[in-house]
Amino acid sequence: MQNTKSRSLGAGSSTGLKAVPFFTQLTERELELVRSLSTEKHYPKNAVVLTEGEMGDSLFMIRSGKVKVFIGDQDGREMILKILGPGDFFGEMSMIDKQPRSASVTTLEPSVFLVLSHAAFEKAIEQVPRIATIVMRILAQRVREADKKIGTLALMDVYGRVASTLLELAVMDNGKLMVGEKLSQQDLANMVGASREMVNRILKDLSDRGFISVESKSITIINRELPPSL
Ligand code: CMP
Repeated sequence: MQNTKSRSLGAGSSTGLKAVPFFTQLTERELELVRSLSTEKHYPKNAVVLTEGEMGDSLFMIRSGKVKVFIGDQDGREMILKILGPGDFFGEMSMIDKQPRSASVTTLEPSVFLVLSHAAFEKAIEQVPRIATIVMRILAQRVREADKKIGTLALMDVYGRVASTLLELAVMDNGKLMVGEKLSQQDLANMVGASREMVNRILKDLSDRGFISVESKSITIINRELPPSL
């Protein structure tokens, strides 16, 4: 275990890296162009959108809904890399480098996507070169987040990983810092590389100590200075 007893995970430790969604960086005219070049697709909850290892050359922009991006092994275990929501995009990696999909993507709720083919993406960039810069900026943010995750996985124990992930997912809602994602404890376990039972125990401990309050569909962070270890 790391020597982290005297430290705490302040909210600023993880929230600063939250990416700015793609859509909000485009003007209405640019958005209209992107819309005209893409096809709208609707998926129900729990639908497979992309499968790790398969070929594909389309980029998906999330109009509404939520997806999880994950990698899995042959025993069905999965590691969730990221939860993405409205304004985010995915599928850009294979579209750019023409390699197989780096991860799988499934919907966590009914979702609507705008799908851009490689050819349509090139057309969009031709007309609005700024789109390439925006995509590059978002990719850089994702590498930063991935670096942070590697650090968390390598340097923190499970307790710290759960605390850090809760802070990463939390957003202000009516003056409360809440994790409102429709995430099961199994999903949370898959985000921190631990068993569901272990995550359940840690959430209970954080709740008993007054740091969080666990309701059926959400977790409220009462004291954002979450302890990084027991
Ligand atoms: P692609 O490889 O085409 O298909 C899977 C997609 O998952 C990938 O493009 C990215 O859009 C997304 N993805 C992969 N790794 C991450 C990550 N660490 N964070 C966010 N999104 C990711």
